[in-house]
Parts: sequence; C-alpha cells; structure tokens
Amino acid sequence: MAKVRVLFVCQQCGHKVAKWLGKCPECNEFNTLVEEVQKLDEGIRRPLLSEERPMSIAEVQPVDRPRVPVGLPELDRVLGGGIVIGSVCLIGGDPGIGKSTLILQLCEKVARQGRRVLYVSSEESIMQTKLRADRLGVGAPELYLVSETNLDMIRRYLEEMRPALAVIDSIQMIYRPEIPSAPGSVGQVRECAADLTFVAKRHGVSLFIVGHVTKEGAIAGPRTLEHLVDAVFYFEGDRFQSFRVLRGVKNRFGSTNEIGIFEMLSNGLREVPNPSELFMSQDRIGRQGSVVVPSFVGSRTLLVEMQALTTRAAYGMPARRVTGVDLNRVAILIAVLERRCGLGLGGQDVFVNAVGGVQVEEPAADLGVAVAIASSFRGKAVDAKAFVLGEVGLSGEVRGVTQAQARIVEGRRLGFERAVVPADNTRGLEAPEGLTVVPVRNLREALDELQ
Ligand code: TYD
Ligand code: MG
Repeated sequence: MAKVRVLFVCQQCGHKVAKWLGKCPECNEFNTLVEEVQKLDEGIRRPLLSEERPMSIAEVQPVDRPRVPVGLPELDRVLGGGIVIGSVCLIGGDPGIGKSTLILQLCEKVARQGRRVLYVSSEESIMQTKLRADRLGVGAPELYLVSETNLDMIRRYLEEMRPALAVIDSIQMIYRPEIPSAPGSVGQVRECAADLTFVAKRHGVSLFIVGHVTKEGAIAGPRTLEHLVDAVFYFEGDRFQSFRVLRGVKNRFGSTNEIGIFEMLSNGLREVPNPSELFMSQDRIGRQGSVVVPSFVGSRTLLVEMQALTTRAAYGMPARRVTGVDLNRVAILIAVLERRCGLGLGGQDVFVNAVGGVQVEEPAADLGVAVAIASSFRGKAVDAKAFVLGEVGLSGEVRGVTQAQARIVEGRRLGFERAVVPADNTRGLEAPEGLTVVPVRNLREALDELQ
C-alpha cells in the first residue's frame, strides 16, 4: 500500500498547512483550504500518454477527431456535433436536476447504434437503475450496468470491456482504497477523476463523468475537475419547473455558446422543439413592465420576456435585484433612464427578471430591460405586438446589435408585428412579411414609440 501524506492547500495563495484551518494563515482568506493527498513513495505514477518526442509544428499532421452523433439534436449541438471519440466530459448540476436521466438516455442512444456502453452507477443499485431505465424505455442490449464505487474495480471493467462509451454517475461516491480521505473529498474526487481520465484516454473510451454541484461553494464539486477534462457541461434549471438547460462552459472540441433545452416529463427528458415559447408567459397582453427581446444564445435566437417591477423604496437605500440579467448593466440603465429620460427612479426599488430562468447577458437586451423598467414605472403597458432590440449607451443612444436579421426573423415567426430596432441596424435589413420595422436612435424615441 502506498504511503500518503494529507495536506491542506489554500486555493487562493497556494500556502500549505498540516491541518485544516478556517482561515489561511498566509493570505487570511476564509474557507480556502482544501485537502490534498500526496504520495510519498511513488515517482511518476501515471505513465506518459505516448512515447512521442517533440516535433516541429510544421510536421504535425492534423487529424480529424471522429465524432459520434448521439441522435438527440439538442444534446449533439451542445457537444459540438456529437461525442468525440476518446474525449472526457464532465456533467455537473444540482442533485435531482436530471443528470442521471439525461445520461441514461444518452447511453441508450449510443448503445442502439451497436456500440458498447458501460454505465457505472455509484449511487444506485442495478435494480434502481433498471427501474429508471424501464420508465425511460431504455433497454438496448449493448448497454451494460454495474453498481460500483471502488476505483480499482471500475478500472478493471474499463480495461476488460473496452466500451465505446463509459459513464461514471457520480464521481463523488468513487474512492481509491489507498487514499485515506472519504469519498467525495477533494483529494478523492480529483485523484479518481484523473485516473479514470488516464485509463479512458489510453483505451480510446469516451468518458462522461457526472458530478454534483455542492451547495457549500462547490469545493469538492465539478469545479475542481474542470481543468482535467476536455469538456464541461452544466445541467441547469429550476427543480420545480419542468424544463432544463444543458450549457457548455468548456469544450476543447467545439463552441461553448450553445445550449440544449429539454423538458422533464414522466417518461424522461424530451427535447423542446420550439424553445422561444418557453421563455414568454402566455398572458403578456396588457401587462405593465413586460417586453419581449430576441436574444442570441449560441447559434440561435430565443425570444425572452423581460419583466421589470418598480415600487417605492420602503427603507433608505433603494433595492436593485435581478435574475437572468447583469446587475451592473441594470444599474447603468436605471441611471440612463433617470438622467436622459427624466424618470424619477432614485427612490424606487427596481426588480428585473428574465422569464424562464435563462441568462440574457448580452448588451442587445439593454433596450428591452430599459423599456420594461420604464413601463412599470409609468404604469403603462408596452405594445404587446412589438419586440425590441438594441444596446443602450450612457448618453441614451441606441446602438446597433449583431445578428439583427436573425433576431427579427425569429420575432416574426412567433407572430410579432412590430420590431423596434436600432437605426444603425436598418441598412440592409430585410423585414419579413407582416413585420413593421421601427428604427430608433435613442432611448427616448423607443419609449415614445412603445408606450
Ligand atoms: P435524476 O436524473 O435522478 O437527477 P440527478 O441524477 O441529477 O440527481 O432525476 C431526478 C428527478 O427527475 C426526480 O425527482 C424525478 C424526476 N424524473 C422525472 O420527472 N421523470 C423521469 O422520467 C425520471 C427518470 C425522473
Ligand atoms: Mg443521479
């Protein structure tokens, strides 16, 4: 058995101490010390991936990494076109959000293509997994299940079976027997993931590692593994609403702008064919403080309803609270509304919400947010047949946005009749039939137009 030493390393400054402390003695930060296990009697533990020598960049032959499309378009798009053979992906998310469900459906799709898949469940028994599989209609014979938490055993299965795809659900319960710390600790999680990554790379196995995001700062969660793997995805959504968003945050083989949208039904996750409808409430008509914004997420446009509410501040400092939009941008927009349009927002609490839990952080949503705030403050509803786009500058000017054409096409597709767009964008813009394009140069013009 290998000799090990347990140390605690500050994530902030790298200082090492022998026992856990609440505060780092070096940089005085709180809760930054995490456990690390060091081997004392082993040199290089993992052999190198290959015996290659350095070569000139000019001599390196590009190889196209083959991909296996899963067959679920929402998932394939986020993956960058399919699973890259031999790649290691991490899927993080809150407990209960649907990671196991998504992964099992993915396994089924790959196994139905005649590829061998190994699903390692470290949290549930085979019976539990089977019950879930039945509920999902999952039953491809090439899908193998095992319930195991010992890393040595999992390595053995990988080496013996050489599956095309292997899934570890979840990494937090896996342990290496020679490491004394408990499963789920930073040391265990990191070591186990590194080992599995190594085995997968050596045998060309595509590996998905599932990790729970822990509430307490996610210290032993997927964040500690992000640098180790090829791609990182987060599965998000409100546990009390049915839809879920898969978002890429790192991808060595594709873009990280894409999102995949799913709905959780009683028989598993279903892809959402028309996601724009999700992010708008059905009875918007005549409501104050609500406006629709076409927002670019990855390679497609989603129509998102922006809602704002202003009320007289009850205690001293007015509150500014937002969900789904950037708080700093909202603060700027409030200042611009106040100074350039004369709205007395100084004594008002302002709340802004992007409906449906999406994140709309691009400047193109500025005008929508500003219009929603003004609408709530003035108590006047915005024209329900209109949507707006534009970036708002500090002097109240409305600036052009990227992809204006795609945005107005999506707006028309969902039945809107008027588009309030930056004047800068109107040159070369082709309005779809039935859509009137209203160019505006500044925030004041936009407000006059819509209210
Ligand atoms: P699960 O995939 O177990 O989540 P995670 O692996 O991220 O912890 O899914 C958990 C929730 O999903 C559970 O509360 C029940 C619900 N669910 C459905 O609504 N429909 C289904 O078909 C399945 C399998 C689960
Ligand atoms: Mg699970």
